[in-house]
Amino acid sequence: MINSSNNNSILVREKLLSYRGRKFGRTLSKTKSDILNRVKKTNSITVENIFSKNIFTSSYFPLSLEIGCGSGEFIVSQAIESPEKGFLVVEQYINGLASLSSKISKNNLKNIKFFPGDITKIFHLLPHNAFDSIYILFPDPWPKSRHHKRRIIQKEIIDIFSKLLINNGILWFASDDREYCRFALLHFQNHPSFKWAAEKREDWLKKPIIWADTRYEIKAKKRGISPIFLKFIKTKHL
Ligand SMILES: C[S@@+](CC[C@H](N)C(=O)[O-])C[C@H]1O[C@@H](n2cnc3c(N)ncnc32)[C@H](O)[C@@H]1O
Repeated sequence: MINSSNNNSILVREKLLSYRGRKFGRTLSKTKSDILNRVKKTNSITVENIFSKNIFTSSYFPLSLEIGCGSGEFIVSQAIESPEKGFLVVEQYINGLASLSSKISKNNLKNIKFFPGDITKIFHLLPHNAFDSIYILFPDPWPKSRHHKRRIIQKEIIDIFSKLLINNGILWFASDDREYCRFALLHFQNHPSFKWAAEKREDWLKKPIIWADTRYEIKAKKRGISPIFLKFIKTKHL
């Protein structure tokens, strides 16, 4: 049974946490912009229509959520691999959404829906226990201490993740930024709902075999940096 999380207790401090990165890059070509607009009609959700799109009641349920999918390499490969499963993707960067849309169109994917915007604008609309996995892959590291408050990993947001995930649901965090990994680890280990699933060194140096590399992962590897993959299991409801 889904409980709507539309209540004040999880309304995050939007001003503090809302998206600060870039929303636009190079101007889109007409072809890319046409594909984005076409795919948006079938595969995107808005704050207004999120419940009328039946994503939370369909046979695709429970869903996977990816926050900040970039160009969508990871989630598209997952959606192709598991056509019976539903994927909700949130990305604010228009050029990333255009690449995601091309991949959705090319593969005729019906099981991906995306919210073109800032995740903090829909947290309060997402139903509790609606997701069995959440992916945060190579999030913006905001390396300066005074910018740490902009990171997606915050106590208030982990509280929300805990409510969105079913019991034994999994949250994956990946990064090539060692300091951000330590920061994330500390936050999840201090949280009563989550348990770090690693037992040995290889567990955080390797990702599941079927995962496609993301753009930022490839960039990190080219610089000779091995990314870290942290797997957290939601063991307890808040
Ligand atoms: C460093 S990029 C990584 C992209 C992709 N995951 C990858 O590995 O290639 C981080 C992405 O997260 C997105 N992002 C950051 N904060 C966000 C937010 N609050 N809501 C939605 N997207 C966000 C950015 O637009 C950007 O595309």
